[in-house]
Amino acid sequence: MPVITAVLGDITTQDVDAVVNAANKAMRGGGGVDGAIHRGGGPAILRDCLARFPDGLATGDAGWTTAGDLPARWVIHTVGPNYHAGQRDRSLLESCYRCALEVADELGARSVAFPLISTGVGGWPHADAIEAAIETIAAAETGVDEVRLVAFDEAMHKRTRAAVWVRCPPPFDTDSVGSLFEREPIQYSLRGDFYLWLELRARFADTPLPDDWFTLRTLIMDTIEQVVGEHLTSRESAPWHDRVGAIYVPEFDPGHGMSAGAVHVPWWVHTGVPILLDRYAARREPGTFPAG
Ligand code: APR
Repeated sequence: MPVITAVLGDITTQDVDAVVNAANKAMRGGGGVDGAIHRGGGPAILRDCLARFPDGLATGDAGWTTAGDLPARWVIHTVGPNYHAGQRDRSLLESCYRCALEVADELGARSVAFPLISTGVGGWPHADAIEAAIETIAAAETGVDEVRLVAFDEAMHKRTRAAVWVRCPPPFDTDSVGSLFEREPIQYSLRGDFYLWLELRARFADTPLPDDWFTLRTLIMDTIEQVVGEHLTSRESAPWHDRVGAIYVPEFDPGHGMSAGAVHVPWWVHTGVPILLDRYAARREPGTFPAG
């Protein structure tokens, strides 16, 4: 399985062997990623499209051309389904990723940057499009070692990153704050807590453990506040089953609605963070608990 990373930026600037274009069936250029790739790569791409694909490409299929003036060597064009136009068969979207990786293998490309196919003009619901991308790439038998999922805007990037961290958690240093998150708790309160746990593990992957537990607690709480976008104090004493204790975080929502993306503040304050502090104390002086 290739290492999957989420990147915020413009796909045309990616320094990889191949960039993937979200093309249309005619393969003669368009807007969005397609327009950016043709503009950035210059007329050589269109010339190659005309020569190699006189009849265009079918939805779900993929084929390659030169990348012209782009840093990449090849462009792999694929045609995503248009959800707005009623093309809602998910296997067509999955096929784009699978076929593009097959083409990458034919070319011997080892690193490939994908846009989130069908999420622009194509109108596919974002959370599901991201899941389809990650699932398909993770399941592909391919010689590609590195896949970048490139999102153009911050919200899409955060969503993609959270979903990537669930499936491909980045490695952490042994003495990092991230290492405290290695074993997951037996039970979370809400589904968003699971995403937040993995997000914190990744964010703290190379943060050295501080010298005292109070600094650690402050660091974790501040970071949680940063992620959820709110101070925790007003919600920490909410009764356990009261929705008031939950904060909805869009990037933790895998597309199933409100509670699916919610982080439960009382769980973090009274369970999640204490678990981490206990682990910290056990590491520093086995058998002791944080004082105070
Ligand atoms: N780099 C990375 N991502 C980008 C860039 C860029 N330069 N430009 C746009 N995006 C993002 C969009 O924000 C969206 O999330 O790529 C995603 C895919 O959007 P589209 O390019 O609209 O692709 P898609 O939804 O698959 O629709 C394809 O659009 O332009 C036409 O010819 C194209 O008909 C085809 C259709």
